[in-house]
Amino acid sequence: MYTEQGVSVTTHWWRHAAIYQIYVRSFADGDGDGTGDLAGVRSRLPYLRELGVDALWFNPWYTSPMADGGYDVADYRDIDPLFGTLAEAELLITEAHGHGLRVLIDLVPNHCSDQHVWFRDALAAGPGSPERERFWFVPGRGADGELPPNDWTSYFGGSAWTRVTEADGTAGPWYLHMFAPEQPDLNWEHPEVRAEFEDVLRFWLDRGVDGFRIDVAHGLAKKPGLPDVGPDPDVTDLPYQDCDAVHDIYRSWRKILDTYDGDRTFVGEVWLPTPEQSARYLRPDELHSAFNFDFLCCAWDTDALRRVVEETFAGHAPVGAPPTWVLSNHDTIRHVTRYGREDTSFDMGDKRLLDPSDPVLGRRRARAAALLTLALPGGVYVYQGDELGLPEVQDLPDALLQDPTFVRSGGVDRGRDGCRVPLPWSGSGASLGFSPEPATAAPWLPQPADWSALSVAAQESDPDSFLSLYRAALALRRERLAVLPEALTWVEAGPGTLCFDRDGGFRCVVNASESAVALPEGADVLIASGPLADGELPPDTAAWLSL
Ligand code: NOJ
Repeated sequence: MYTEQGVSVTTHWWRHAAIYQIYVRSFADGDGDGTGDLAGVRSRLPYLRELGVDALWFNPWYTSPMADGGYDVADYRDIDPLFGTLAEAELLITEAHGHGLRVLIDLVPNHCSDQHVWFRDALAAGPGSPERERFWFVPGRGADGELPPNDWTSYFGGSAWTRVTEADGTAGPWYLHMFAPEQPDLNWEHPEVRAEFEDVLRFWLDRGVDGFRIDVAHGLAKKPGLPDVGPDPDVTDLPYQDCDAVHDIYRSWRKILDTYDGDRTFVGEVWLPTPEQSARYLRPDELHSAFNFDFLCCAWDTDALRRVVEETFAGHAPVGAPPTWVLSNHDTIRHVTRYGREDTSFDMGDKRLLDPSDPVLGRRRARAAALLTLALPGGVYVYQGDELGLPEVQDLPDALLQDPTFVRSGGVDRGRDGCRVPLPWSGSGASLGFSPEPATAAPWLPQPADWSALSVAAQESDPDSFLSLYRAALALRRERLAVLPEALTWVEAGPGTLCFDRDGGFRCVVNASESAVALPEGADVLIASGPLADGELPPDTAAWLSL
C-alpha cells in the first residue's frame, strides 16, 4: 500500500467541480430548425441541475460560418444566429447561475474565421499591408513562390498553408492555418492581437461568465522564423506548439481574470506529449487546470490507468494544480464504443475507422469508468450524452458528414460527427424530443432509431439506467468527496483491479479482470456500476464502499 499525496483541501470550486460539456448544436433545439440553440439549453437547465453537475462548459457559440463547428469564429462578441442572440446568452448565464450552475465558455485564440473582419481586411488590403501583420502571410518557396513557406501540416490533414489569390488575380503569399483553411492562425507577436483578446476576455467576464476553456492552448505562439519540422522531428520540440512565448500570454490573461471577483477560472486544452510540458501551463500565475488527455486516451487496463493517475498527480504536484479526469469530448470517439473494441485506447490520429465494438461490454465498462472517474480527486468533465451512455454513431452516411477532417483526409478519417449526434430527450417523435414538434427541419445529424431506449425520458424512471447511475454518483460525490483533500491511498486488490481509499472511510474498487473479486467484509456498498454476484464484484464493474 502506498499513499499518493496531493495538495491540501481548498475551497476553490474549480478544484473539484463536475463540469458538463454542452455542444450547443446538438444539445437541445428550442426553435425547431433541427439545430440546438440557447433556447434549448435554457429549457433544460432544470435537467442539468438535477443531474448534479456544478458548472457548464459551452463549446463556441459565437458568430461563425461553422466550417469547424464554431471553432472558426467570425465575431467573438456576438452569438451565432443559429444559436440565438447576445441578449439570450446573457439571460442564459443569469438563469444558469440561478440554478447554481457556473458557466465556462470556449475561447478560440489560435485562429479566427476567414470571415472575421480582420482576415477579410487583410485579404483586401494586399501584400505588405499592416492588416496582414495580424496573421501569418508568408511568401512561398520555389522560383515563383509556388511552394508552401515550410513543411508544416494541418492538424486536419494536408499542408498548413494556403496560397492567396490577390484581387488582381495574381498568386500572392501563403497564409498559415494549423486547422482548416477557413481558420487562419493569428499572429500572437502582434500587439493588436493581444489587446483584442484581452478585451474579449473582459467582454465576457463583464457578462458574468465564470471562466474560459482555452482552445489549442499550447498552439498560440510559433517558433521565430517558422522553421521546418523536418523528417524526424522531436515531438516535444515542434515549432508550432508549446513555444515559450505562449506562457507570457496566459500570465497577462491571469492578471485580468484575477481582477474579477467570483473565483473565476481558466481550463486549457493543453494536448502535449509529456506531463512536464503540460504542467508549465498550470503554474500559479497561468491557467488553473487542463484537460487530462492521457486519461481520456488510456486503454481499459488497470495497470495503464493507475500509471496515468500516478503520473497525473506527480505532474501536477510541483505546480499545485488540481488534476482533472475526462472520458470523452466532442473531438473523440465516445467511450462506450471505445471500451467495446479490442483496442480500447484512443489516439487522435488513427482510431476513427469503423472498428467493431461490443456494445454490451462497452456499456458495462463505461459505467465502471464513470465511477472511477467520479471518485478520483480533482475536477471531472462529463460530455453531454455520457450520462445517457450514448455510443459513437458509426454509420452516418458520408453525404451527411460535416467535420472538415473527413473531407481533408480524403475520407480516411471519418471525423468527429459520430460523437456529435443530437441528444434523445424523449422516446418518441421525429427527433426524439431534440426539437419541439412540429419542427421545421430534421436534426442536423440523424439519430439512430434505437436511441429512443437511451432517451432521458426512458432512463429517468429506470433505477438501473446510466442516467440514474450518474445522478446518484454525482450526488454522492458532491456530498462525500468534493470536500476531501486531493489525495488517495492505493490498496492492492489483485491483478486487473484498481482500488483506492480516500479520507472518511471511502473506497473505490474497479474490477477490469476476467473474474469476480471479493469485496471487504462489513463494507457498505454505496453504489455499484452493475449488479454484484453473491457479494462479489463481477468483471468490468466498479463500486464505491464505505468502510
Ligand atoms: C480543438 C477543438 O476541441 C476542436 O473541436 C477544434 O476543431 C480545434 N481545436 C480547432 O479549433
